[in-house]
Amino acid sequence: MTALSSPATARNKALILEVLREHLPARGLVLEIAAGAGEHALHMAGNLPGLTWQPTDPDPQALASIAAWREQEGAPNLLAPLELDASRPDSWPVRSADAIVCINMIHISPWAATEGLFAGAGRLLPPAGVLVTYGPYLEDEVETAPSNVAFDASLKRRNPAWGIRRREDVEALAGRHGLALHARVAMPANNLSLVFRRSAEMNGR
Ligand SMILES: C[S@@+](CC[C@H](N)C(=O)[O-])C[C@H]1O[C@@H](n2cnc3c(N)ncnc32)[C@H](O)[C@@H]1O
Repeated sequence: MTALSSPATARNKALILEVLREHLPARGLVLEIAAGAGEHALHMAGNLPGLTWQPTDPDPQALASIAAWREQEGAPNLLAPLELDASRPDSWPVRSADAIVCINMIHISPWAATEGLFAGAGRLLPPAGVLVTYGPYLEDEVETAPSNVAFDASLKRRNPAWGIRRREDVEALAGRHGLALHARVAMPANNLSLVFRRSAEMNGR
């Protein structure tokens, strides 16, 4: 098992932690979707000891890396990784979560993964529960940074089903699952943290 590492995570994990500190509940289970190598999970669990952190990913190499980090340095509140494909919310291995975190997946997966993410979040989250996403977005009222134009083109060359999504499209999708945009936090390198909150009135659970 190899614990993988990425320079981008080393740069963004402290800033994402600040957003999570502000918006996650003090206690409860956080479901992390698309946890990748697991460095975020390790960092967030270590710094948010009141929460139980459940990392997931569909990729076996990612799951092995998360398990390796957990074995080497894991905090007691970091659970063993689970296989989860966001695009198949009916098969998610977790039945409830107090909050959901999804870092750098929406632009680097087919739109069906984002559709599943919001469908699953709408079903799992308690009233007023939050889904926090992080990554690059296009926004109607904001000129796209040249670096994001180039990044979008490179994503589409790798896979035509990938690409930076319009924030407004993601918001509309969220609305169809009972979630509304609660906070938009500008992050370095033209990324955004978006905090979606499940309507407090919904009682479908
Ligand atoms: C760019 S990596 C981001 C990993 C990590 N969150 C980070 O920021 O370092 C994208 C991740 O999305 C995961 N992914 C792709 N399609 C997915 C899907 N349908 N459901 C859940 N995760 C998916 C990949 O396996 C990969 O780990």
